[in-house]
Formats: sequence, C-alpha cells, structure tokens
Amino acid sequence: MSRSAPNESSVEVDHRIRNIVILGGGTAGWMAASYLGKALQRTVTITVLEAPAIPRIGVGEATVPNLHRAFFSYLGIAEDDWMRECNASFKVGIKFINWRTPSASSPRPRPLGNRTDQFFHLFGLLPSADQIPLSHYWVVNKLSGQTDEPFDYACFKEPAIMEAKKAPRWPDGRPATYYAWHFDAHLVADFLRRFAVEKQGATHVRDQLSEVVCDERGFITGLRTVRGRLIEGDLFIDCSGFRGLLINKALDEPFIAMNDYLLCDSAVATTVPHDDAVHGVEPYTSAIAMTSGWTWRIPMLTRFGTGYVYSSQFATQDQVTEEFCGLWGLNPENTTFHQIRFRVGRNRRSWVKNCVSIGLASCFLEPLESTGIYFISAAVYQLVKHFPDRRFDPVLAEQFNHEIETMFDNTRDFIQAHFYFSPRTDTPFWRANKELRLSEGIREKVARYKSGLPINAPVVDEETYYRNFDVEFRNFWTNGSYYCIFAGMGLEPERALPALVHKPDSIKAAQALFERVKQQQHELPDALPGNYEFLMRMHGAA
Ligand code: TRP
Repeated sequence: MSRSAPNESSVEVDHRIRNIVILGGGTAGWMAASYLGKALQRTVTITVLEAPAIPRIGVGEATVPNLHRAFFSYLGIAEDDWMRECNASFKVGIKFINWRTPSASSPRPRPLGNRTDQFFHLFGLLPSADQIPLSHYWVVNKLSGQTDEPFDYACFKEPAIMEAKKAPRWPDGRPATYYAWHFDAHLVADFLRRFAVEKQGATHVRDQLSEVVCDERGFITGLRTVRGRLIEGDLFIDCSGFRGLLINKALDEPFIAMNDYLLCDSAVATTVPHDDAVHGVEPYTSAIAMTSGWTWRIPMLTRFGTGYVYSSQFATQDQVTEEFCGLWGLNPENTTFHQIRFRVGRNRRSWVKNCVSIGLASCFLEPLESTGIYFISAAVYQLVKHFPDRRFDPVLAEQFNHEIETMFDNTRDFIQAHFYFSPRTDTPFWRANKELRLSEGIREKVARYKSGLPINAPVVDEETYYRNFDVEFRNFWTNGSYYCIFAGMGLEPERALPALVHKPDSIKAAQALFERVKQQQHELPDALPGNYEFLMRMHGAA
C-alpha cells in the first residue's frame, strides 16, 4: 500500500472560506443563510447580522414553480410543511386584465370584441410535435382561419382550472399541473430564520451595522456594530436591501438604473379582506392594467395582497391612491397603505472582491413577472456553483456576474415588452412606453416571433426542465412565455413557420395534442378539488 508523503500536505496552505457573514435578515438574508448552510455541508460558520426594527418589504409575494425543487426541497423541507408555516396559497399562472383596453375603474376584464380583455401566462413547456412546439401549429390554424381561439386557451389546459378556482393538486396531494405559490414574505423570512438557526447552527446577531472594516486591498474584513461588536469573516453577503450598504456604500460599486427601459418606480400596497367561503380563492395572480401602471392581486386565505405599481413621472401618490381605492372599493380613511419606492436596475457587478450582493441589494425589477424571490434562489445557486476560496480567483466572480447580468437583462427586456406591446395608448404613461428603446436581444426575439420561428424552445421535456436548474436558468423565458405575452397583447405572427407546409403528418399529430388540451379543459374543472377547500384542509382550518 502506498502512503502519501506527509510533508507535502503539511506545507499546503488551507485557503478555504471559514466564516461567512450575511448583512440583513430579510427574505434574501435568511434564504442565503439556510441555502449556504445546507450546500456547504457544515464546513463554514454563518453569521447573520440583522438590525432590529428594519421593516421588511413584502405585501403578498408571488413565485415560480422551481422555488420548491431548487430551494425548499433541496433543504429537505416538505412542500406542505413550509406552505403551512408561510400561510402559502397556489399560483397556477398570471391573469392579465385590461392590458388591451382602457379601463381604470374595474377589476373585471372589459369586453374586447366578442371576448373579454384578459389573457394568461402559464408555466411549463408546451408539448411538441416533431420537435416543434404547439404554438407554431396554433399559428398555422390561426392564420388559415381554422381557429379563432386565443393562444392560451388553445394550447394550455390551465385556464379552465383557473377560471373554475380549482386547486392544482388532486385530493391525495399529487400535482395536477405545474404551479407556484403566493405567500407573505415576512413569514418565509421568519420560518427560514428558525430553520437556519435551529437546524443549521447559523448565528443570529441582532444589532446594527456601524462601520465596514476593510484591508488595504479594499476587501472587507469585518462589520462593526452599534453595540461595539466586530464580526469578522472571509466572505460577506450583502442582503441589506435597496441601500446596498456593503456593495454600493462601502465598496462603491455603481448601481445601473434602468428607468430608460421600465418607467414604474413606486407602488402603493395594502391587503384587502376577502370572503373565501362565498367567492372561493383564485389560484392565480392577477395583473390589472391601470392609468399609470398596473395592480397586482395575490390571493391568500381570508384576504388578498394588492398594490398599484406606477410611474412617479406620470402620477402623484394621491392620484394613484384614489384610483386604487376605486378599483377595490376601499375607504382611504380606514385603510393602511404601504408606500414603496424602488430602484430599478442592477449593480454593475453583483460580486466585487469578497462581497456578493443578493436580493434587492443586487438588482430589482418591478414585480410584474414575480421574479424577486426567483432572483434570490438563482443567486444562491450560482454562488455555490462559483464558490471561492480565500484567494478569490477573479474568474469565479466574473462568471457569476455574467450569469446574474444575463438573467437580469433578459428579464428586464421581457417585462419591458409587456408595456411596449400593450396596444393601450390612452394615457401619457402608456404612450411614453411606446417611445422607449428596446434592446437588441428582445428585438431579435420579436423578429423571430413575427417570422414564425421558435423564440426559445429548449429541447428537453418538462420534467428535465424543472429538475435541472441550469437548463431552466438558461432558458427561463421560454417560447411559451413569449407567446403568452406577445399573442396575449394582440401581437400576431405575420406568417407561420414556412417548413410546416411540408409536414402534414406533424400537423396531424399536433391536432391530437390540441384535442387533448380541450379534453383536459373539459374534465379537470370537475375532477379537481376547489382551491379554497384544498387550502383550508391543508392549513388545518377546516
Ligand atoms: N420558466 C418559468 C417557469 O415556468 C417561466 C415563468 C416565470 C413564468 N414566471 C412566470 C411563466 C409566470 C408563467 C407565469 O417557471
């Protein structure tokens, strides 16, 4: 048996990271603490410095389907357990209301020709025939006059489940479709704090940052607190929110504002009581277009979270509050409003020296496509993939930054396209959106769409897509997502994929897929349990 030379290993210097310090105990801070604790397998100490009495932003938060697999299940937490702790409800997709017609005064969709002004954005990958997604066969049928059904209803089974207010799970708990969740982000932060501290040994320091201590290279060595503590570490995670206390303030990294792409910069938000027993619980987020922005509606048990996201260039707080109260019939005298101002954009670099920013300290987009929590889970995933040692090889940070930048910029473009392609021009806000510049990337996608080409269709099945986070991350906005929004806004392809005239067999196969969608739309509303009943049972309220 050969022995390794002992002198060789003893001269080797141990460069590994030993202490991670996280500044900020909001959703980002506690998600980072619990994820890193798990991923780094108890080889590091994790300290979270959380200032007491920092109000957390989050009045109803919506997510994407991978949150469970990429985050909670990875931590070993069962879906029903965290759902109960966080008072979570289901989200089968997003319903967009009044994005095509002027209507400020009603949460109901307006008539639009012989239909109403609403469309859905659904999760999942569309089925393919001959490796071509169903969307392209819909275009064939649409342009040849064989169907006048809108894209979402023709290609997805979910609209029927949503309109019937059914749960996306069978009575025995098995999933009936891909879905995400709504919850109160405060509860998630509280739950993950307990998890990180009690189950993973994270240290929780309740104190306030007073000074950031750096070495001669500008690397952070410690955080001094108001009560005189010095918390030393090798790697610092900035989860301090919009202020970016480490990344922007201490390390001076510039924040690139992107208000030239997205006009909304403010919100007024509240929660509204809701009689679930009478009306049921909608298993989806609504996004209702307004005079100077749009309003979210996030149903949870007994109430819904709602907020009017607007552009302060085009409306005052008073105007917005009045329109918002009119929408839901709220009395401003006895309603508590949260006024939110947000910075839209991202840090030039998310990771600088030994400081990685995550959450609002890194980047923010308006909440239209529910990407806030997704950005956090993507960032912690990428951090673990590019995890450094104390030599801080710059390539790791560069690659990480590149991933974050691509993720952010693609999402910014996708969200901008909602406002740009909405046919509304009835107010200065909607008209101003049409004047903005679109990035090269999104213009190319629109060109593909108009020419009948797939926009972004990863050639994997749905299971693989959601199981392999790298695949989903790289292809987050799929062909189906672009189609839901472009077609939903009324933008139609100018021609069908030319190759399809040579594929009568494939077109026939696609017809069978369309028929299956119709059959499921017919059967599922009767077969699935009510969303309200399912949630009541899960939360032990019935
Ligand atoms: N790939 C994402 C998913 O299926 C796309 C997505 C993100 C999405 N947010 C969405 C789709 C909201 C529909 C609605 O999870």
